[in-house]
Amino acid sequence: MDDFIAQLPKAELHLHIEGTLEPELAFALAEKNKITLPFKSVDEMRAAYNFSDLQSFLDLYYASISVVQTEEDFHDLTLAYLKKAASQNVRHTEIFFDPQSHTARNIPMGTVINGITAALREAQSELGVSSKLILSFLRHLSEAAAMETLQQALPFRDQFIGIGLDSSELGHPPSKFVNVFEEVRRQGFRVVCHAGEEGPPEYINEALDQLHAERIDHGVRCMEDAALVKRLAEEQIPLTVCPLSNVRLCVFKTMSDHTIKQMMDAGLLVTVNSDDPPYFGGYVNENYQAIQEAFGLTREDLVQLARNSFTAAFLSDEEKQKLIAELPEF
Ligand code: ADE
Ligand code: ZN
Repeated sequence: MDDFIAQLPKAELHLHIEGTLEPELAFALAEKNKITLPFKSVDEMRAAYNFSDLQSFLDLYYASISVVQTEEDFHDLTLAYLKKAASQNVRHTEIFFDPQSHTARNIPMGTVINGITAALREAQSELGVSSKLILSFLRHLSEAAAMETLQQALPFRDQFIGIGLDSSELGHPPSKFVNVFEEVRRQGFRVVCHAGEEGPPEYINEALDQLHAERIDHGVRCMEDAALVKRLAEEQIPLTVCPLSNVRLCVFKTMSDHTIKQMMDAGLLVTVNSDDPPYFGGYVNENYQAIQEAFGLTREDLVQLARNSFTAAFLSDEEKQKLIAELPEF
């Protein structure tokens, strides 16, 4: 089954580029940029990846990204992820970036976006992996700060296709960002939103009704609200589920407690993704493997998940069909 998963063509739709920083690259960049990490070694850094909830992870995630500073650093970070993705037969990826975690350190928006997109172009031509970029607002900051970030990003609007909302969910509902997402849609961007990771099912409804999100990131807590499950199934709203992330951040106690199989059985458009792979112990294939083992998923189940990943992508129908056409041999 591991070989089958490895060979399966797939898309990854929920991946934070800042969350792909491997400790080895973190130490190399720290040395180059003369920054001191709060760890003595790569092993010590990896040993700190032991989280009690979303916030305990975010604290380390924001602190670690301080080593990434130049356009070349953003390029190298992104290309390292894309090489790994290509090695796992990822054909297409939609990547989040958190500009506010960089502009707060006086790194210009252009440095971030130009570095990332240079790597995306390289991966398209040299690795055969296509990508889209999605800017994400930090929800623990204000709506005014999100609006300012949108304005700073508009000169680079041709380099990203959508806007999302991430960071500390509890206490920061989608409704806090209604006005800025109205402007986001007016500007013609696709809309996604992290909701129902730690936050309640109402946040998923808010993301759909108030922000007009086209895709929900995580969304696992929808299972607490039968009417919402019915709605998500009927409207085939894609959910970008991240199984290893959910267990490492204690959304579920163990993988056997995860509700992903129930979500699939309820007819939801579930996709499998890695979120922040080094922090959570695996890239996309390790996520497929973990749920396959926990729930005894069949080859048909795995192919369905891969098909869903293409269906849920921000690609044209023609591009999706081309990717889906690779699946029947599996
Ligand atoms: N930023 C990076 N990973 C995240 C997650 N799983 N939830 C919210 N914000 C994030
Ligand atoms: Zn995420």
